[in-house]
Amino acid sequence: MTNSQSTKGQDAGEQTNAVYSETAIDHMRNPRNAGVITNADGQASITGPCGDTMEIWLRVVDGIIERASFWTDGCGTTIAAGSMVTELAKGKRAAEAFRVAQQDVLDALGGLPDESVHCALLAANTMKEAVKDYLAFRNEPWKRAYRKC
Ligand code: FES
Repeated sequence: MTNSQSTKGQDAGEQTNAVYSETAIDHMRNPRNAGVITNADGQASITGPCGDTMEIWLRVVDGIIERASFWTDGCGTTIAAGSMVTELAKGKRAAEAFRVAQQDVLDALGGLPDESVHCALLAANTMKEAVKDYLAFRNEPWKRAYRKC
């Protein structure tokens, strides 16, 4: 490796650390709650305007979100947002999880660059839809038989 390559690499690393908080980088590299919950009590999948998709699954026991998981085909920031929104939802009542907003995800991640704040919106919106899905099937469980997945 030449000196110029080494310097360039260091600059890129320093730039990443300057743009993303340590918390955001940790959630990108070590996402929490990644994967599928089979026979979930609530589930939603949303594709955002950027073309990335996020999917969220919920396990709800006695009205409390006991487990939440996610999957996304998006970038590292989207992974961090999915990881954080599932962490924020766990242990909450469904109505409280429904109120988890884009700003809550951003605050918990220590902020995101302007061009990536929409990743937090995709995560918060997908969580809202998963909670709505749970509430719909809680009230009319027979409809679960007609669910696509
Ligand atoms: Fe598309 Fe993050 S870049 S949701």
